[in-house]
Amino acid sequence: MDTKVAIIGCGAIGREIALSIDTKKISNCNLSILFDTDSMKLESLHNDLQYKPSSTFNDFNELITSNDYRNVNLVIEAASVKAARTYMATILKQRKDIMIMSMGAFSDPTFYEIIIQLLANSDNNVFLPSGAIGGADIIRSVKDYIDEVSIVTTKSNKSLKGAPYFSNNGIDIDTIKEKQVIFNGNAINAIKEFPSNINISALVSLAGIGFEKTRVIIVVDPKIINNQHEIQVKWKFGSFQIKVDNMPSPDNPKTSYLAILSAIECLRGICEKNLKIGS
Ligand SMILES: NC(=O)c1ccc[n+]([C@@H]2O[C@H](COP(=O)([O-])OP(=O)(O)OC[C@H]3O[C@@H](n4cnc5c(N)ncnc54)[C@H](O)[C@@H]3O)[C@@H](O)[C@H]2O)c1
Repeated sequence: MDTKVAIIGCGAIGREIALSIDTKKISNCNLSILFDTDSMKLESLHNDLQYKPSSTFNDFNELITSNDYRNVNLVIEAASVKAARTYMATILKQRKDIMIMSMGAFSDPTFYEIIIQLLANSDNNVFLPSGAIGGADIIRSVKDYIDEVSIVTTKSNKSLKGAPYFSNNGIDIDTIKEKQVIFNGNAINAIKEFPSNINISALVSLAGIGFEKTRVIIVVDPKIINNQHEIQVKWKFGSFQIKVDNMPSPDNPKTSYLAILSAIECLRGICEKNLKIGS
């Protein structure tokens, strides 16, 4: 049976996922619904699809009360941390699986507990793709023995522009001309200050020792083109470092292109019944 998918957010990630389904790059998968609060984004993606989804929405309540939504098995959130926090519990209560891209949502402990409780009483899954990094499998395996985990993210001014951190601290990012550390703190505060830039620290936190103990260092480098993430883990029986150098998405410089490919691969893993490699 095909997995029937609803996508929330028709931006850089949602668009590429929809196009992958449309061009049959994922077997056993059917795009049923697109939802975006920005009608222009919605329309633009809808126009580019050869196989049109049954419905499109720009209002969440209309989406979840629609007939087409009843048949959806999997909702993919690719919108924002705020959107994930607003919609996720409702979707889980309606017995749908969810893939979450804005996983920074889990940095709020109350929200995290609500979702864990809902999952404990349901047969549904929440899927969190590896995103712009690798190594979540190793972090998960050694989590009970970790002494220290940090993630150093280096991005250009363009990739970091618009983060609340700059207005909160009266900093004009365009005036930063030399490479410098602009944030050094835990993952909870990193996600608060950079909700669209450092979602990946949530994956590291969830796989490892939690948001409070995961250190995040954000570096702005005016000369860099790619987004870089370096994860360093020290654990009882060893240590490891993983450095990933990613081109930003042409549609959204905040998002690494690898995050898009990772979401598509995660969807493939859900829809296609075959070898599960490295999971
Ligand atoms: N997990 C990861 O590794 C990773 C990597 C990159 C981006 N992200 C996160 O994934 C999300 C999507 O990224 P993107 O690059 O596609 O962003 P984008 O800005 O290109 O697209 C987001 C889309 O969602 C829509 N949207 C925003 N709020 C909405 C709401 N409340 N309801 C419905 N639609 C809404 C916007 O109109 C926009 O079209 C962001 O939160 C981003 O931070 C995660």
